[in-house]
Amino acid sequence: MKIIVTGGAGFVGSALVRYLINETHHQVVVIDKLTYASNLESLRDVSDNERFSFIRSDICNRSAMEDIFENYQPDRVIHLAAESHVDRSISGPEDFIKNNIIGTYVLLEVSNLFWSSLPENKKNNFKLLHVSTDEVYGDLGENSQNLTSENSAYAPSSPYAASKASSDHLVWAWWRTYGLPVVITHCSNNFGPYQYPEKLIPLVILNAISGKNIPIYGNGEQVRDWLHVDDHIRAIYSILEKGKIGDSYNISSNNEVKNIDLVTTICSILDDIFPESKNKPHNNLIEFVEDRLGHDFRYALDTKKLNKEIGWKSEVGFEDRLKETVLWYVRNFKWLETIQKY
Ligand SMILES: NC(=O)c1ccc[n+]([C@@H]2O[C@H](COP(=O)([O-])OP(=O)(O)OC[C@H]3O[C@@H](n4cnc5c(N)ncnc54)[C@H](O)[C@@H]3O)[C@@H](O)[C@H]2O)c1
Repeated sequence: MKIIVTGGAGFVGSALVRYLINETHHQVVVIDKLTYASNLESLRDVSDNERFSFIRSDICNRSAMEDIFENYQPDRVIHLAAESHVDRSISGPEDFIKNNIIGTYVLLEVSNLFWSSLPENKKNNFKLLHVSTDEVYGDLGENSQNLTSENSAYAPSSPYAASKASSDHLVWAWWRTYGLPVVITHCSNNFGPYQYPEKLIPLVILNAISGKNIPIYGNGEQVRDWLHVDDHIRAIYSILEKGKIGDSYNISSNNEVKNIDLVTTICSILDDIFPESKNKPHNNLIEFVEDRLGHDFRYALDTKKLNKEIGWKSEVGFEDRLKETVLWYVRNFKWLETIQKY
């Protein structure tokens, strides 16, 4: 199959592209406009593969997108291109409105035009998978026993979450109105290698190694549901093949962790890796800072549907994955030199 991956030079997208090239026989076309959050080095391992193509383009550019669809004739589209950092959406929401909402609208229009023109057999085979977030459901109460399911109401808090919720609504509208075959996935917080170091886990690792303060919002009691990026992309791939058209699936490995516990665990992993470090114990670097505006307290996803219908479950335990991730950043300082500075 030919698979278009938008946002394939970002953190999750590049993991997905490495997986598709290394573990499947599909052809992959990455469309990415290369914002600060992207890094072509993350695709270096697959860039020479003859099944891999890269196109630098903005998904908001309709005529460029029409040409790409016409030239590549995709069987699948996996849509990840987005502005993804909540703090940036609070200080400057405009890019989120443009890339996440208008960008998704253009992608839907172009996909629909392309799909409508296909012969019946190809039409029945086409699918667009939209990668969304647990943040569209908003804050889950601290003591809520009911985890967030696919039927929970949308209640986004940040401009980022609202832009993703808007893009979800557009995707549903194109399914309900035009019949465009779509599936939506909602995943929890990802971690793993090649993540831009403004996100919590790489930020903590890099600040701790360099002896800089480790900022934690508020009292650090907020709970996030951590998912390794490799687990995430395996789930996306399974849903792409087995997911029901017009349906949505939550993806998480049910690892609810308080921010403060996550950070102290990373610090103690670093204490073990660098027993002679002058920054040891690294948790002395923790600094509680003013809470994020509109900060959601807890996200936690119900994944029964994913487990039952798709037969997916996480393969590796959280602690092992976290250690592996810390080691990756320690060993890959070179990759960090290649990121675009913010
Ligand atoms: N990382 C997470 O924890 C997480 C959690 C839930 C959902 N998601 C969703 O997964 C997707 C990928 O997230 P990520 O963490 O890899 O993000 P990222 O910021 O690392 O990568 C996003 C990529 O999209 C590209 N991009 C942005 N706007 C574009 C445009 N207009 N045209 C073309 N390319 C564009 C960027 O250049 C970048 O390469 C996003 O849609 C995000 O909302 C991520």
